[in-house]
Amino acid sequence: MNPQRMLRQKLEDLQRAGVTQVPRELANLVTGLSQKAASEQPQSPVSSGNRVLAVSSSSKESVAAKSAASPTVVSPVAAAPPIRPERASAMSTANPPPASAATSTPRQFLPSSNGSLPQEFSAAMSGSKRPCSALVRDDRVAGLSRVAAQVAACTRCQELADTRTQTVFGVGNPEATIMYIGEAPGADEDRQGEPFVGRAGQLLDKITEACKLTREEIYICNILRCRPPGNRNPTPDEATNCREYLDAQIELVDPEYIVCWGSVAAHNLLDTKAAIGKMRGKFFDYKGIKVLCTYHPSYLLRSPGAKKDVWADMKFFRADMGVILD
Ligand code: URA
Repeated sequence: MNPQRMLRQKLEDLQRAGVTQVPRELANLVTGLSQKAASEQPQSPVSSGNRVLAVSSSSKESVAAKSAASPTVVSPVAAAPPIRPERASAMSTANPPPASAATSTPRQFLPSSNGSLPQEFSAAMSGSKRPCSALVRDDRVAGLSRVAAQVAACTRCQELADTRTQTVFGVGNPEATIMYIGEAPGADEDRQGEPFVGRAGQLLDKITEACKLTREEIYICNILRCRPPGNRNPTPDEATNCREYLDAQIELVDPEYIVCWGSVAAHNLLDTKAAIGKMRGKFFDYKGIKVLCTYHPSYLLRSPGAKKDVWADMKFFRADMGVILD
C-alpha cells in the first residue's frame, strides 16, 4: 500500500473512532507526501495531441467546464491515486448536488511512453486537502439514504415510473474504493430492488471474486434507477433525468476507481460515443476518479469470447491498485 493511502486510511479510522480534529502534523504529512509524489514525477505532458488541462484541487468543475467533450485517458503508470478534497462537498447541504454538477468533462491522458506521470495528473494530486475533510461513514450513509428516498419518489421519466415495480438505487460499501456502474435494472433487479442480481449479476460476481474482491466492498449502481420496459436501452432523456442521482452517489461514495460495465455506462458517464472496444484497456479520468470501461457482463453471456478482454482489463485495473492477478 502506498504511504498516502495508508495515511489516509489511518485518518479515516481516526474519524470513524470519533476523532474529528486531525492533528495538524498528521494532515501536513499527508499533504506533504502528496506534493512530494507529484513533484517527483517528471512534468512532461504526454504526447499524442491530447489537451493539457491545468487542474486545481478546488475548481475541478470550472476546469471541466473549459474542456471539450472528448473523454480523457489516464496513464496506466503507477501513481498514488489523487486525493479528492471535494469528497466533503456533497455533504454540505441536505440535498444532492444540482444537475449542473454533472456536466463535468473527463480529461484524457494517454499512456505515456516513458512511464512518466502526466503533468495534469500530478497537478491534481498536489494541494490535496481531502484527508482533513473526508466524510465519515455515517454522513455518507445518511446522504445516500436521502438521495435514495428522492429516487424512490421520482417520476421524472413517466413511462419508467408507471412501469417499474420499484426503483433500484444502488448497494454496497458507502466508503468503497471501487464503484461499478452498469446500465439499468433488468427484470430481476426490478423485482428485488438491487442492481446486478440476475444472470449478468452472477457473472459480475464471479469476475469480482476472480479479482480478489467481494461484492460487499464495492458500491454498485446503474446509469438508470428504473427498469426500461422490455430492457430497452435507456433514452438520452432518461439518462439525463437520472444523472443527478448518479452524480450524488459518486460524490458521496467518492471512489478512487469506477468500472463502467458496457457502453451505456461508459458513454453516459464520460459523455462520449467512442466504441467500447476502443475505450477498454486504459483509464479515463472523471473528476479525479480513474475510470475503466469494459464490456458488460450481459454481452459476455452472449459473446464468451470477449471474456479474455474483460480479464485483461481487470488485470490492468487491479495492477494499478497493486494487486497482481494470475
Ligand atoms: N444490467 C445492468 O446494467 N444493471 C443491472 O443492475 C442489471 C443488469
